Amino acid sequence: MRSYVEETGFFGSITAEELVSKYGTPLYVYNENIIRERMREVARVITKYPYRANYSMKANSNLTILKIAHEEGLNADAMSEGEMRLLLKAGFENDRIFFVPNNVSDEELQFAIDHDIMVSLDSLDQLELFGKLNRGGKCSVRINPGVGAGHHEKVVTAGKKTKFGIAEEDVDKIFEVAAKYDLTIAEINQHVGSQYLDPEPFLQAVENFLRIADKFKDLEYIDFGGGYGIPYHKLDDEARFDMDSFTGRFTALLDDYVARLNGPIPLFKSEPGRYCVAEGGVILGRVHATKQNAGHKYAGTDIGMNVLARPTLYDSYHEIEILRNGKAVARDNMEEINVSGNICESGDLLAKDRLLPHIETGDIACVLDAGAYGYSMSSSYNTRPRAAEVMICKDGNDRLIRRRETYEDLFSLFPDET
Ligand SMILES: Cc1ncc(COP(=O)(O)O)c(C=O)c1O
Repeated sequence: MRSYVEETGFFGSITAEELVSKYGTPLYVYNENIIRERMREVARVITKYPYRANYSMKANSNLTILKIAHEEGLNADAMSEGEMRLLLKAGFENDRIFFVPNNVSDEELQFAIDHDIMVSLDSLDQLELFGKLNRGGKCSVRINPGVGAGHHEKVVTAGKKTKFGIAEEDVDKIFEVAAKYDLTIAEINQHVGSQYLDPEPFLQAVENFLRIADKFKDLEYIDFGGGYGIPYHKLDDEARFDMDSFTGRFTALLDDYVARLNGPIPLFKSEPGRYCVAEGGVILGRVHATKQNAGHKYAGTDIGMNVLARPTLYDSYHEIEILRNGKAVARDNMEEINVSGNICESGDLLAKDRLLPHIETGDIACVLDAGAYGYSMSSSYNTRPRAAEVMICKDGNDRLIRRRETYEDLFSLFPDET
């Protein structure tokens, strides 16, 4: 692929240059059509059985995007009280929200209980706490199916070395705690990890998980978690996650489970975050300097690790397009370069030893696939206000969906010293 933003018409009826002069940099830009299309795909993963996709809002918690997920008929996952509050604000009804926390306080659990939001308990201790707070209540438990998956060890959330879920050998203890507090375990959930393009480990986990599910009676829901990957190497034409073959194999495992089920078929669920929003977001930034350092070339931008943490946190790969005079610079005459941000850390690198077209000071750097775990993981490190977010709407017009943070916003938390 020559240019993702040009081939998808990503910026609608406005150019990147105009966006940057209107809103400044760094700037998150989203494309509503792409996001809706991806949300529709995840809603169709299982068609043979009752099925619901929950949008995992940790990937992108912009209010406008949450409203789009709601309009698209998705349910939603929350990882914290803040996320539950935001989903309620976006119009999600309580029975369309699933709270999937780990290691939370009484207060946070109580918020979910008071709002009649289904909670997943991630340990026997938390199940016990839930029982004390809500005797006779109904809940989900997160099971570790023993197999994990993901693009980096930091995003593998099941298997032998993880803080998440209740281990298979402790499943009987779930029933003991449930009996003690008269709890109904109406759901079980898993999440094996994030950004897998090879579905094998996930399908293996599903098989294990459904075998564990056999021990539970009258489940209303079984939730398989998220994690579907997206092609981050898209300019090199990396293959997409093969949804059709995935659906076939996933459904076959559900067929086996349903065949041995003694009772009503539960609602099957999933929790995709990244797949819904990653490709629908880019970051525009300005190249403020280029230089050579001991034989290595650097392009210094304003897209630091405060704006996009993933490369620093996980060594994640994001394609970068260089935009100049309203066009993507052709990918010939490539040279090896490091693309950095403006944060005072040597790990503040967007791309290491990357082959990119020749970059000049003043160019616009456009970081692809930044719609997931981009803004939601951003910070004000080095006292840099967080970026603005703009949506290219269905009609091709741009709309500010989160204003740029100001210095006043940042300083407003200090108690007045006068
Ligand atoms: C419990 C849970 N569900 C869903 C997700 C979403 O994962 P992804 O964005 O990879 O689909 C995560 C992400 O880590 C998670 O922890």
